[in-house]
Amino acid sequence: MPSEVKTIAGSFSQQFNSKIQTRTARVGIIGMGYVGLPLALLFSDQKFVVTGFDIDARKVTTLNQGGSYIHRILPAEIKAAQQSGFLATEDFSRLRDMDAVIICVPTPLDEYHEPDMSYITGTATSIAPHLRSGHLIVLESTTYPGTTEEVLVPILEKGNPRGLKVSTKQRAGDFFVAFSPEREDPGNQSVARRDIPKVVGGLDQQASESAAALYNSIFNRVVPVSTPAAAEMTKLLENIYRCVNIALVNELKMLCLRMGVDIWEVIAAASTKPFGFQAFYPGPGLGGHCIPVDPFYLSWKAKEFDFHTRFIELAGEVNLHMPYHVVDSVIEALNARKKALNGSKVLVLGLAYKKDIDDLRESPSLTIIELLQKQGAQVSYHDPYFAFVGRGRKYDLQMKCASLENLGEYDCVLIVTDHSDYDYRRIVREAKLVVDTRNATKGINSPNIVRC
Ligand SMILES: NC(=O)c1ccc[n+]([C@@H]2O[C@H](COP(=O)([O-])OP(=O)(O)OC[C@H]3O[C@@H](n4cnc5c(N)ncnc54)[C@H](O)[C@@H]3O)[C@@H](O)[C@H]2O)c1
Repeated sequence: MPSEVKTIAGSFSQQFNSKIQTRTARVGIIGMGYVGLPLALLFSDQKFVVTGFDIDARKVTTLNQGGSYIHRILPAEIKAAQQSGFLATEDFSRLRDMDAVIICVPTPLDEYHEPDMSYITGTATSIAPHLRSGHLIVLESTTYPGTTEEVLVPILEKGNPRGLKVSTKQRAGDFFVAFSPEREDPGNQSVARRDIPKVVGGLDQQASESAAALYNSIFNRVVPVSTPAAAEMTKLLENIYRCVNIALVNELKMLCLRMGVDIWEVIAAASTKPFGFQAFYPGPGLGGHCIPVDPFYLSWKAKEFDFHTRFIELAGEVNLHMPYHVVDSVIEALNARKKALNGSKVLVLGLAYKKDIDDLRESPSLTIIELLQKQGAQVSYHDPYFAFVGRGRKYDLQMKCASLENLGEYDCVLIVTDHSDYDYRRIVREAKLVVDTRNATKGINSPNIVRC
């Protein structure tokens, strides 16, 4: 890069950094969901004026009325942010007033199990007309390596009426782009959000430095990588690592069940090794927005390179089988009591995809309920986080949360999510049969428990 271009970039960087230090930088966050809203609150805590953009009018109204739609975020936190200037809007023309824009929109799989990029392309299309010189745009949505450069940047460049160009390592431009993956672990109380290191990869040095300065104001450590693609791949490696290891213990659990060995005891014993082992736990199947979904973003992209990601496919196969294994276990347990699943009353405990959270995206409970119903079971559910479950992207339950007062009326109580609120001793005492997919009944001895 010629030296005068470096100087212009350097002076922009100084201005941006000084706006960050003085908290006069305006931060816009697109997507006020599980990732975007907590991020907005972190910036707001640090006295930035934050604007939340969303296309969901109900979310925008709730936030502007000082309310919250995420269980772990209290209305008081939204109100405190409002005191620091936080507001939500559907009006994307306000993006012009922002210095930094962070994109936190969904990246699901479509009906063919392929990346659904429509939220990212839709967002880029909404930003482009309001792009201005000096803007820093950061993508946080989990996606395949190459998305930032191949999908986001072309839409921003083509769609802006002033012909603004992105700054790259080869060419000085008008606006800056980086990728920085989100690493939230919903429900985890042991690591403060600030202490989770933030990986950042910019399209050029300027973008990397500005994004690092931005995130340094709310995170204790920023980890720079050389490109957006490296940052995109980092996130996928983290999630694939979990997905593959969970598949491994799920497979070993099924073998242990046949061999009469307690997999939970084995994992606890292996965990005493002070090096080279990290514990992963079996369960009723993968859930959540990340682990069941993200690995397939990479296997899809890999095909472009004539590459078959066999670990991901195999892990997917094992994990997808788990809800079927759970239903088979219920059938066997009922059979041992001379009962058929058809016509039996089954209470599913826990709908959320993991304990103590209010998120049921991709939850194995949904698949399990559907499979049980298909086989003629009369299914009810209980979950302290969901009073009612209607229609989602892949389910239509229309069920109300049942009471826990009459456990003895069910032929089987099936523990799918091990919420801490449950009194497992009472459940085992009162239920005729408990099928436990999470080892929630650990330490309780009863012939009525079947661990699967
Ligand atoms: N939830 C997690 O724990 C988690 C953790 C790490 C990474 N991620 C990733 O972060 C991204 C966001 O996930 P999330 O859980 O926050 O999703 P979410 O569904 O909770 O929230 C997304 C928000 O984006 C809004 N939105 C959709 N399209 C939009 C558009 N065109 N313009 C403006 N707003 C739009 C939706 O209305 C919604 O409020 C995903 O890529 C996900 O994989 C999520």
